[in-house]
Amino acid sequence: MYGSSTQIPTIDLDTVTKPISSARGMPGLTYTDPQLFAFERDNLLGKTWAGLTFVSELPLNGSLLPVDFMGLPLLVTRTNEGQIKVFHNVCSHRGMTLVSEPKDQSRGVRCPYHSWFYDLDGMLKATPHIGGSGIHVLDDFSCAENNLKSVRCHLWMGIIFINLSADAEDFADFIGPLEERWAPFMGPAGVSQLTVPSAQGPIAIEVTANWKLAVENYCEAYHLPWVHPALNSYSPLDKHYNIVAAKNMSGQGSYAYTLCDVAGTELPQFEKWPEDKLRHAEYISLYPNVLLGLQVDHAFAMILQPLAADKTIEKLQLSYLADGAESNNYQVSRDAITESWQQVFGEDIFAVEGMQKARHSPGFTGGVFSPVQDVPSHHFHGWVADQYQAAQNQ
Ligand code: FES
Ligand SMILES: [Fe+2]
Repeated sequence: MYGSSTQIPTIDLDTVTKPISSARGMPGLTYTDPQLFAFERDNLLGKTWAGLTFVSELPLNGSLLPVDFMGLPLLVTRTNEGQIKVFHNVCSHRGMTLVSEPKDQSRGVRCPYHSWFYDLDGMLKATPHIGGSGIHVLDDFSCAENNLKSVRCHLWMGIIFINLSADAEDFADFIGPLEERWAPFMGPAGVSQLTVPSAQGPIAIEVTANWKLAVENYCEAYHLPWVHPALNSYSPLDKHYNIVAAKNMSGQGSYAYTLCDVAGTELPQFEKWPEDKLRHAEYISLYPNVLLGLQVDHAFAMILQPLAADKTIEKLQLSYLADGAESNNYQVSRDAITESWQQVFGEDIFAVEGMQKARHSPGFTGGVFSPVQDVPSHHFHGWVADQYQAAQNQ
């Protein structure tokens, strides 16, 4: 059911995969061209595990949520048993888009065109008048062969991940290196200890920029002193270190994240977090499109939802430990943390949008990297180039 319909571009990527001191970044066209955007959907995001949306966007059983995935209409359902499923948002009859608005308290999906009905598991249950007026069943028409087409999905840290091509590695292998890296902080229970406040779904920020720029910007701490003076005051650049965690993960960490001291926040903490590392924090880009932040008393995930080559919605979801997510006693702390991250991501908008504009310039030939500060972003460029080259060599 899945196939790449997009043309494979001929782009010379040899300079991108060079060692950092002589490398150039991805060419400007890969940030601006609609055809390459579709190419990336099928060959980068679609071939691995990409973040689609958050479970918190379907808080009730019996919910439907349509989501655009780089131009493909998808449908997330939450069954009456609370299971999350993902389907192509396309009616099996004549290909009508089934759901155009989020909906709660639904028993299923009724197509607005000829009223075929699917349950929340995607099973075709009714085909009214298919055999003429009053004849709803035909002997030679099989409902079972016309269910909704499902998309492989997996839940982790409140994120609904999808693998469009259906043949990526197991999710456990995909996430394994990160879970291993963070086990000394989180303990064996890992991300299952984190809870999203029921009153605070994701915060959306729309940027006029390609999704890759948001990843690149998140990978490095180099820009902190100039773009994030407040953050730099409680988590300064010189207390940061680079992270290259696996082939599909890079970012930066801080030895001195001290918002709790500056803003007086006080929240439940990970029980297994080492006493001598209470001010440690890590910020990792999980390629292709999920940005993660881990502190002793909260975590966040950002899903980059690419809408077009030059347009991305950044969805930010915070989560906390124990009763830190719900108790009124922690409302002030949660507000301070939310405000701090909204400020940080807000400050980044001009940077990613400014880079996007300049990607149209003939004066841009991929840019160069600081061999010290840009190690994590160079790693991301290498990963992107590898995926392009793998597709080109198919
Ligand atoms: S297209 Fe959906 S019922 Fe006809
Ligand atoms: Fe930033």
